[in-house]
Amino acid sequence: MEHQITFRDGRQVCALGQGTWQMGRRRDEEIRALRRGIDLGMTVIDTAEMYGNEELVGEAVRDCRGKVFLVSKVVPGNAGYEGTKQACERSLRRLGTDYIDLYLLHWKGRHPFSETVRAMAELQQEGKIVRWGMSNLDVDDMKRILALPHGEDCAANQVLYNLAERGVEYDLLPWSRERQMPVMAYTPLGEGRLRSHRVLTGIASRHNATPVQIALAWVLRLPGVMAIPKAGSVSHVEENHRSLDICLTDEDLREIDAAFPAPVRKIPLAGW
Ligand SMILES: NC(=O)c1ccc[n+]([C@@H]2O[C@H](COP(=O)([O-])OP(=O)(O)OC[C@H]3O[C@@H](n4cnc5c(N)ncnc54)[C@H](OP(=O)(O)O)[C@@H]3O)[C@@H](O)[C@H]2O)c1
Repeated sequence: MEHQITFRDGRQVCALGQGTWQMGRRRDEEIRALRRGIDLGMTVIDTAEMYGNEELVGEAVRDCRGKVFLVSKVVPGNAGYEGTKQACERSLRRLGTDYIDLYLLHWKGRHPFSETVRAMAELQQEGKIVRWGMSNLDVDDMKRILALPHGEDCAANQVLYNLAERGVEYDLLPWSRERQMPVMAYTPLGEGRLRSHRVLTGIASRHNATPVQIALAWVLRLPGVMAIPKAGSVSHVEENHRSLDICLTDEDLREIDAAFPAPVRKIPLAGW
């Protein structure tokens, strides 16, 4: 189905989800925004123990937990075997739920991957997480993950991807696609910086849209790639949702490529 992401276990979600980093300052408005997004079908909600807002997310989804796909992350300093299991228990408590749909290692740290993955596999067997994945890992590290016991169960990778950060197109996106592993694009709006770009403004006017919607439609053009913009108001959520209706033309894509060139060689993964 168009604009749906299918995990290898068959679970399907809308390719446009919702980020939550920095949420917590305008709590009521942010909860309203998240709920509006869920009503519109943007049911993937991305949080992390590091964001300090899992209670807010838990409150936003309390009355609709069944239709939400909750993502949370263990911070690398906690990502040893015991630490991962304890961090997950704490996240479950804060979120007010008894399972997390996708639990990620936030980025690579000092603990060996083998410990994190062993804990992830156990948490999955215990039903505390439905699936697990990684974040901010480039191809070499993803290969290391997949080579571990249970490593093939890695369900997703969440990485920085937007018009101004296209490095992953060179190798990580094709590698993930070959393995039917969804990629979650974080910071798809360049933290909002792309909203007034001249080229996007021109393309937007042809689609009766906004530059933000063009930036999101561009990330969503690729199968297997989802976007998790963070929007702190109902109006931003509604604007972002309309990006799902935009189909960029070849001319649009040519203009975008001229302004934001695709990588022609390996570029180390940007982000954390
Ligand atoms: N795994 C990782 O290491 C990692 C790292 C960074 C981010 N993430 C995840 O990815 C999510 C998204 O990334 P991000 O928060 O860094 O940046 P982003 O989604 O690219 O940009 C967020 C900014 O865009 C603004 N915005 C959203 N919709 C808008 C609209 N329709 N019109 C104008 N401005 C709009 C927001 O403002 P308002 O709040 O005012 O709407 C906010 O300032 C995060 O929230 C987090 O869940 C993960």
